[in-house]
Amino acid sequence: IERAGQEHFDRIVAADSRIEPRDWMPEGYRKTLTRQISQHAHSEIIGMQPEANWITRAPSLKRKAILMAKVQDEAGHGLYLYSAAETLGTPRRELNQQLLHGRAKYSSIFNYPARTWADMGAIGWLVDGAAIANQVPLCRCSYGPYGRAMVRVCKEESFHQRQGWEILHALSHGTPAQKQMAQDAVDRLYAPALMMFGPPDSDSSNSDQSMAWNIKRFSNDELRQRFVDMIVPQAEALGLTLPDPDLKWNEERGHYDFGPLDWDEFWRVVKGGGPLNAQRMQRRREAHAEGAWVREAAEAYAAKHTTTTTA
Ligand code: 3HC
Repeated sequence: IERAGQEHFDRIVAADSRIEPRDWMPEGYRKTLTRQISQHAHSEIIGMQPEANWITRAPSLKRKAILMAKVQDEAGHGLYLYSAAETLGTPRRELNQQLLHGRAKYSSIFNYPARTWADMGAIGWLVDGAAIANQVPLCRCSYGPYGRAMVRVCKEESFHQRQGWEILHALSHGTPAQKQMAQDAVDRLYAPALMMFGPPDSDSSNSDQSMAWNIKRFSNDELRQRFVDMIVPQAEALGLTLPDPDLKWNEERGHYDFGPLDWDEFWRVVKGGGPLNAQRMQRRREAHAEGAWVREAAEAYAAKHTTTTTA
Protein backbone atom coordinates (compact mmCIF):
# COMPACT_ATOMS: atom_id res chain seq x y z
CA ILE A 1 0.00 0.00 0.00
CA GLU A 2 2.87 2.30 0.93
CA ARG A 3 4.39 2.12 -2.56
CA ALA A 4 1.04 2.55 -4.31
CA GLY A 5 0.22 5.39 -1.93
CA GLN A 6 3.54 7.13 -2.57
CA GLU A 7 3.08 6.81 -6.36
CA HIS A 8 -0.45 8.21 -6.10
CA PHE A 9 0.78 11.08 -3.91
CA ASP A 10 3.68 11.86 -6.26
CA ARG A 11 1.32 11.87 -9.25
CA ILE A 12 -1.05 14.32 -7.57
CA VAL A 13 1.76 16.68 -6.52
CA ALA A 14 3.40 16.46 -9.98
CA ALA A 15 0.05 17.31 -11.58
CA ASP A 16 -0.14 20.32 -9.25
CA SER A 17 -3.43 18.92 -7.94
CA ARG A 18 -4.80 18.64 -4.41
CA ILE A 19 -4.15 16.16 -1.59
CA GLU A 20 -7.27 15.63 0.52
CA PRO A 21 -7.49 14.41 4.16
CA ARG A 22 -8.32 10.80 3.22
CA ASP A 23 -5.52 10.52 0.64
CA TRP A 24 -2.37 8.60 1.52
CA MET A 25 0.42 11.08 2.34
CA PRO A 26 4.03 10.78 3.54
CA GLU A 27 4.27 11.23 7.35
CA GLY A 28 6.61 14.18 6.76
CA TYR A 29 3.95 15.92 4.66
CA ARG A 30 1.38 15.42 7.43
CA LYS A 31 3.84 16.60 10.06
CA THR A 32 5.03 19.78 8.33
CA LEU A 33 1.48 20.82 7.46
CA THR A 34 0.28 20.20 11.03
CA ARG A 35 3.22 22.33 12.17
CA GLN A 36 2.61 25.18 9.71
CA ILE A 37 -1.19 25.31 9.84
CA SER A 38 -1.37 25.09 13.65
CA GLN A 39 1.30 27.79 14.05
CA HIS A 40 -0.59 29.90 11.53
CA ALA A 41 -3.72 29.45 13.69
CA HIS A 42 -1.79 30.31 16.88
CA SER A 43 -0.57 33.48 15.13
CA GLU A 44 -4.15 34.53 14.34
CA ILE A 45 -5.26 34.01 17.94
CA ILE A 46 -2.27 35.74 19.56
CA GLY A 47 -2.54 38.44 16.89
CA MET A 48 -5.90 39.46 18.37
CA GLN A 49 -4.19 40.86 21.48
CA PRO A 50 -2.34 43.97 20.19
CA GLU A 51 -5.49 45.17 18.43
CA ALA A 52 -7.98 44.17 21.16
CA ASN A 53 -6.10 46.49 23.54
CA TRP A 54 -7.18 49.43 21.33
CA ILE A 55 -10.87 48.63 20.91
CA THR A 56 -11.80 50.63 24.05
CA ARG A 57 -9.43 53.43 22.98
CA ALA A 58 -10.57 53.85 19.37
CA PRO A 59 -10.96 57.56 18.46
CA SER A 60 -14.50 57.18 17.06
CA LEU A 61 -17.40 54.74 17.04
CA LYS A 62 -16.72 54.00 13.36
CA ARG A 63 -13.06 53.11 14.05
CA LYS A 64 -14.15 51.04 17.07
CA ALA A 65 -16.69 49.07 15.01
CA ILE A 66 -14.12 48.42 12.26
CA LEU A 67 -11.47 47.28 14.77
CA MET A 68 -13.95 44.97 16.52
CA ALA A 69 -14.86 43.42 13.16
CA LYS A 70 -11.17 42.93 12.37
CA VAL A 71 -10.33 41.26 15.69
CA GLN A 72 -13.39 39.04 15.27
CA ASP A 73 -12.11 38.09 11.80
CA GLU A 74 -8.74 37.05 13.29
CA ALA A 75 -10.53 34.74 15.73
CA GLY A 76 -12.45 33.27 12.80
CA HIS A 77 -9.23 32.75 10.84
CA GLY A 78 -7.82 30.90 13.85
CA LEU A 79 -10.93 28.69 14.00
CA TYR A 80 -10.68 28.00 10.26
CA LEU A 81 -7.05 27.06 10.53
CA TYR A 82 -7.41 24.83 13.62
CA SER A 83 -10.19 23.02 11.74
CA ALA A 84 -7.93 22.59 8.70
CA ALA A 85 -5.06 21.37 10.93
CA GLU A 86 -7.33 18.83 12.66
CA THR A 87 -8.05 17.11 9.34
CA LEU A 88 -4.41 15.89 9.51
CA GLY A 89 -5.17 13.92 12.66
CA THR A 90 -4.08 16.04 15.64
CA PRO A 91 -7.04 17.24 17.74
CA ARG A 92 -7.35 20.99 18.31
CA ARG A 93 -7.11 20.45 22.09
CA GLU A 94 -3.59 19.02 21.65
CA LEU A 95 -2.55 21.79 19.24
CA ASN A 96 -3.74 24.35 21.77
CA GLN A 97 -1.83 22.61 24.57
CA GLN A 98 1.32 22.85 22.44
CA LEU A 99 0.86 26.63 22.30
CA LEU A 100 -0.06 26.98 25.99
CA HIS A 101 3.00 24.97 27.05
CA GLY A 102 5.36 26.96 24.84
CA ARG A 103 6.03 24.05 22.49
CA ALA A 104 4.61 25.76 19.40
CA LYS A 105 5.54 28.97 17.59
CA TYR A 106 3.42 31.90 16.49
CA SER A 107 4.38 34.84 14.28
CA SER A 108 7.16 36.98 15.80
CA ILE A 109 5.40 40.21 14.83
CA PHE A 110 2.82 39.88 17.60
CA ASN A 111 5.49 40.15 20.30
CA TYR A 112 5.95 43.85 19.53
CA PRO A 113 3.90 46.50 21.38
CA ALA A 114 1.10 48.54 19.82
CA ARG A 115 1.97 51.85 21.49
CA THR A 116 -0.44 54.34 19.84
CA TRP A 117 -3.62 54.37 17.76
CA ALA A 118 -1.40 54.77 14.67
CA ASP A 119 -0.18 51.23 15.32
CA MET A 120 -3.64 50.01 14.35
CA GLY A 121 -2.98 51.58 10.97
CA ALA A 122 0.57 50.27 10.68
CA ILE A 123 -0.54 46.75 11.72
CA GLY A 124 -3.34 46.78 9.14
CA TRP A 125 -1.18 48.18 6.33
CA LEU A 126 2.13 46.39 7.06
CA VAL A 127 1.30 43.26 9.08
CA ASP A 128 -1.90 42.33 7.26
CA GLY A 129 -0.28 43.45 4.02
CA ALA A 130 2.60 41.03 4.66
CA ALA A 131 0.11 38.34 5.67
CA ILE A 132 -1.68 38.77 2.32
CA ALA A 133 1.59 38.56 0.36
CA ASN A 134 2.32 35.32 2.21
CA GLN A 135 -1.22 33.89 2.12
CA VAL A 136 -2.22 34.47 -1.51
CA PRO A 137 0.24 31.80 -2.78
CA LEU A 138 -0.99 29.51 0.04
CA CYS A 139 -4.41 29.50 -1.67
CA ARG A 140 -2.69 27.15 -4.16
CA CYS A 141 -1.19 24.92 -1.45
CA SER A 142 -1.29 21.23 -2.43
CA TYR A 143 -3.20 20.38 0.76
CA GLY A 144 -6.91 21.00 -0.03
CA PRO A 145 -8.28 22.13 3.35
CA TYR A 146 -5.44 24.66 3.85
CA GLY A 147 -5.63 26.11 0.33
CA ARG A 148 -9.39 26.48 0.53
CA ALA A 149 -9.25 28.10 4.00
CA MET A 150 -6.79 30.66 2.61
CA VAL A 151 -9.25 31.84 -0.08
CA ARG A 152 -11.72 33.08 2.56
CA VAL A 153 -8.96 34.41 4.82
CA CYS A 154 -7.37 36.43 2.01
CA LYS A 155 -10.66 38.13 1.16
CA GLU A 156 -11.00 39.35 4.76
CA GLU A 157 -7.32 40.29 5.02
CA SER A 158 -7.70 42.72 2.11
CA PHE A 159 -10.32 44.62 4.18
CA HIS A 160 -7.84 44.59 7.11
CA GLN A 161 -5.06 45.98 4.95
CA ARG A 162 -7.25 48.69 3.39
CA GLN A 163 -8.61 49.93 6.72
CA GLY A 164 -5.04 50.09 8.07
CA TRP A 165 -3.88 52.13 5.09
CA GLU A 166 -6.87 54.46 5.52
CA ILE A 167 -6.08 55.05 9.22
CA LEU A 168 -2.49 56.01 8.33
CA HIS A 169 -3.67 58.19 5.43
CA ALA A 170 -6.02 60.10 7.75
CA LEU A 171 -3.26 60.59 10.33
CA SER A 172 -0.50 61.49 7.87
CA HIS A 173 -2.81 64.15 6.36
CA GLY A 174 -3.90 65.38 9.82
CA THR A 175 -2.06 67.57 12.32
CA PRO A 176 1.77 67.47 12.48
CA ALA A 177 1.46 65.49 15.74
CA GLN A 178 -0.80 62.93 14.03
CA LYS A 179 1.59 62.65 11.08
CA GLN A 180 4.49 62.11 13.50
CA MET A 181 2.48 59.40 15.32
CA ALA A 182 1.89 57.59 12.00
CA GLN A 183 5.58 57.90 11.06
CA ASP A 184 6.64 56.56 14.46
CA ALA A 185 4.39 53.47 14.10
CA VAL A 186 5.80 52.74 10.62
CA ASP A 187 9.35 53.23 11.94
CA ARG A 188 8.76 50.61 14.65
CA LEU A 189 6.86 48.01 12.62
CA TYR A 190 8.59 48.07 9.20
CA ALA A 191 11.50 45.71 9.99
CA PRO A 192 9.48 43.31 12.20
CA ALA A 193 6.90 43.08 9.38
CA LEU A 194 9.61 42.10 6.88
CA MET A 195 10.71 39.37 9.29
CA MET A 196 7.20 37.83 9.15
CA PHE A 197 8.26 36.14 5.89
CA GLY A 198 10.72 34.00 7.84
CA PRO A 199 14.52 33.79 7.95
CA PRO A 200 16.66 34.25 4.84
CA ASP A 201 16.34 31.33 2.41
CA SER A 202 19.82 30.19 3.48
CA ASP A 203 18.46 29.67 7.03
CA SER A 204 15.07 28.27 6.07
CA SER A 205 15.10 24.67 7.26
CA ASN A 206 11.64 23.81 5.89
CA SER A 207 11.61 25.61 2.54
CA ASP A 208 13.16 23.02 0.22
CA GLN A 209 10.82 20.24 1.26
CA SER A 210 7.78 22.56 1.49
CA MET A 211 8.45 23.81 -2.03
CA ALA A 212 8.94 20.28 -3.37
CA TRP A 213 5.51 19.41 -1.97
CA ASN A 214 3.83 22.57 -3.40
CA ILE A 215 3.07 23.83 0.12
CA LYS A 216 5.34 26.85 -0.21
CA ARG A 217 5.15 28.34 -3.71
CA PHE A 218 7.75 31.09 -3.30
CA SER A 219 10.73 31.32 -1.00
CA ASN A 220 10.83 33.55 2.09
CA ASP A 221 13.16 36.04 0.36
CA GLU A 222 11.10 36.11 -2.84
CA LEU A 223 7.91 37.03 -0.97
CA ARG A 224 9.76 39.53 1.23
CA GLN A 225 11.08 41.24 -1.92
CA ARG A 226 7.60 41.24 -3.48
CA PHE A 227 6.22 42.90 -0.34
CA VAL A 228 8.93 45.61 -0.27
CA ASP A 229 8.28 46.39 -3.95
CA MET A 230 4.59 46.79 -3.08
CA ILE A 231 4.89 49.05 0.00
CA VAL A 232 7.44 51.57 -1.31
CA PRO A 233 4.97 53.35 -3.66
CA GLN A 234 2.21 52.94 -1.05
CA ALA A 235 4.38 54.71 1.58
CA GLU A 236 4.95 57.55 -0.91
CA ALA A 237 1.18 57.84 -1.44
CA LEU A 238 0.79 58.00 2.35
CA GLY A 239 3.39 60.76 2.60
CA LEU A 240 5.36 58.62 5.05
CA THR A 241 8.94 57.37 4.77
CA LEU A 242 10.09 53.79 5.32
CA PRO A 243 12.91 53.61 7.92
CA ASP A 244 15.49 52.09 5.59
CA PRO A 245 18.26 54.32 4.17
CA ASP A 246 19.32 51.52 1.76
CA LEU A 247 15.90 51.41 0.03
CA LYS A 248 16.61 52.19 -3.62
CA TRP A 249 15.12 51.12 -6.96
CA ASN A 250 17.53 48.79 -8.77
CA GLU A 251 16.80 49.08 -12.49
CA GLU A 252 18.92 46.06 -13.30
CA ARG A 253 17.11 43.77 -10.84
CA GLY A 254 13.71 45.38 -11.42
CA HIS A 255 13.23 45.45 -7.65
CA TYR A 256 13.94 47.74 -4.70
CA ASP A 257 17.19 47.04 -2.88
CA PHE A 258 16.63 47.24 0.87
CA GLY A 259 18.83 47.21 3.95
CA PRO A 260 19.91 44.25 6.11
CA LEU A 261 17.51 42.96 8.79
CA ASP A 262 18.59 42.10 12.35
CA TRP A 263 18.36 38.29 12.30
CA ASP A 264 19.74 38.07 15.85
CA GLU A 265 16.67 40.04 16.94
CA PHE A 266 14.46 37.74 14.83
CA TRP A 267 15.72 34.53 16.44
CA ARG A 268 15.67 36.13 19.91
CA VAL A 269 11.99 37.00 19.42
CA VAL A 270 11.18 33.59 17.92
CA LYS A 271 12.82 31.93 20.90
CA GLY A 272 10.74 33.93 23.37
CA GLY A 273 12.94 36.96 24.04
CA GLY A 274 10.89 39.62 22.31
CA PRO A 275 9.45 42.74 24.01
CA LEU A 276 6.09 41.12 24.83
CA ASN A 277 6.42 37.32 24.46
CA ALA A 278 5.81 36.66 28.17
CA GLN A 279 2.81 39.03 28.32
CA ARG A 280 1.20 37.58 25.18
CA MET A 281 1.56 34.03 26.48
CA GLN A 282 0.34 34.94 29.98
CA ARG A 283 -2.74 36.61 28.46
CA ARG A 284 -3.34 33.56 26.29
CA ARG A 285 -3.15 31.20 29.27
CA GLU A 286 -5.46 33.46 31.31
CA ALA A 287 -7.99 33.58 28.44
CA HIS A 288 -7.85 29.79 28.19
CA ALA A 289 -8.54 29.43 31.93
CA GLU A 290 -11.31 32.07 31.86
CA GLY A 291 -12.95 30.21 28.97
CA ALA A 292 -12.95 26.79 30.72
CA TRP A 293 -16.60 27.16 31.81
CA VAL A 294 -17.70 27.71 28.20
CA ARG A 295 -15.94 24.52 27.07
CA GLU A 296 -17.39 22.56 30.02
CA ALA A 297 -20.90 23.86 29.29
CA ALA A 298 -20.60 23.00 25.61
CA GLU A 299 -19.31 19.51 26.42
CA ALA A 300 -22.08 18.94 29.01
CA TYR A 301 -24.70 20.06 26.50
CA ALA A 302 -23.23 17.81 23.80
CA ALA A 303 -23.14 14.82 26.17
CA LYS A 304 -26.71 15.40 27.36
CA HIS A 305 -27.97 16.07 23.87
CA THR A 306 -26.23 13.00 22.41
CA THR A 307 -27.63 10.59 25.09
CA THR A 308 -31.17 12.02 24.62
CA THR A 309 -31.14 11.37 20.88
CA THR A 310 -29.67 7.86 21.24
CA ALA A 311 -32.07 6.92 24.16
N1 3HC B 1 7.77 34.03 13.55
C1 3HC B 1 7.97 32.89 14.27
N2 3HC B 1 8.58 31.77 13.76
C2 3HC B 1 8.97 31.86 12.47
C3 3HC B 1 8.77 32.99 11.65
C4 3HC B 1 8.14 34.10 12.26
N3 3HC B 1 7.93 35.23 11.57
N4 3HC B 1 9.27 32.73 10.42
C5 3HC B 1 9.76 31.48 10.46
N5 3HC B 1 9.59 30.96 11.69
C6 3HC B 1 10.03 29.64 12.15
C7 3HC B 1 9.39 28.53 11.36
O1 3HC B 1 8.14 28.15 11.93
C8 3HC B 1 10.45 27.44 11.49
O2 3HC B 1 10.36 26.83 12.78
P1 3HC B 1 9.61 25.40 12.97
O3 3HC B 1 10.26 24.46 11.99
O4 3HC B 1 9.82 25.05 14.40
O5 3HC B 1 8.15 25.65 12.62
C9 3HC B 1 11.76 28.22 11.49
O6 3HC B 1 11.43 29.55 11.90
C10 3HC B 1 12.47 28.25 10.15
O7 3HC B 1 11.65 28.92 9.22
P2 3HC B 1 11.25 28.24 7.83
O8 3HC B 1 11.36 29.28 6.76
O9 3HC B 1 12.05 26.97 7.63
O10 3HC B 1 9.73 27.85 8.12
P3 3HC B 1 8.53 27.74 7.10
O11 3HC B 1 8.93 27.02 5.85
O12 3HC B 1 7.38 27.24 7.87
O13 3HC B 1 8.26 29.28 6.64
C11 3HC B 1 6.49 30.85 7.14
C12 3HC B 1 7.82 30.22 7.61
C13 3HC B 1 6.73 31.62 5.84
C14 3HC B 1 5.97 31.78 8.23
C15 3HC B 1 5.50 29.70 6.87
O14 3HC B 1 5.41 28.91 8.06
C16 3HC B 1 4.12 30.18 6.50
O15 3HC B 1 3.90 30.58 5.39
N6 3HC B 1 3.18 30.09 7.48
C17 3HC B 1 1.80 30.45 7.19
C18 3HC B 1 1.57 31.92 7.32
C19 3HC B 1 1.73 32.40 8.74
O16 3HC B 1 1.90 31.65 9.66
N7 3HC B 1 1.69 33.70 8.92
C20 3HC B 1 1.88 34.26 10.24
C21 3HC B 1 1.19 35.54 10.33
S1 3HC B 1 -0.55 35.27 10.53
C22 3HC B 1 -1.07 36.85 10.48
O17 3HC B 1 -0.33 37.72 10.17
C23 3HC B 1 -2.49 37.11 10.80
C24 3HC B 1 -2.95 38.38 10.16
O18 3HC B 1 -4.33 38.29 10.08
C25 3HC B 1 -2.57 39.54 11.00
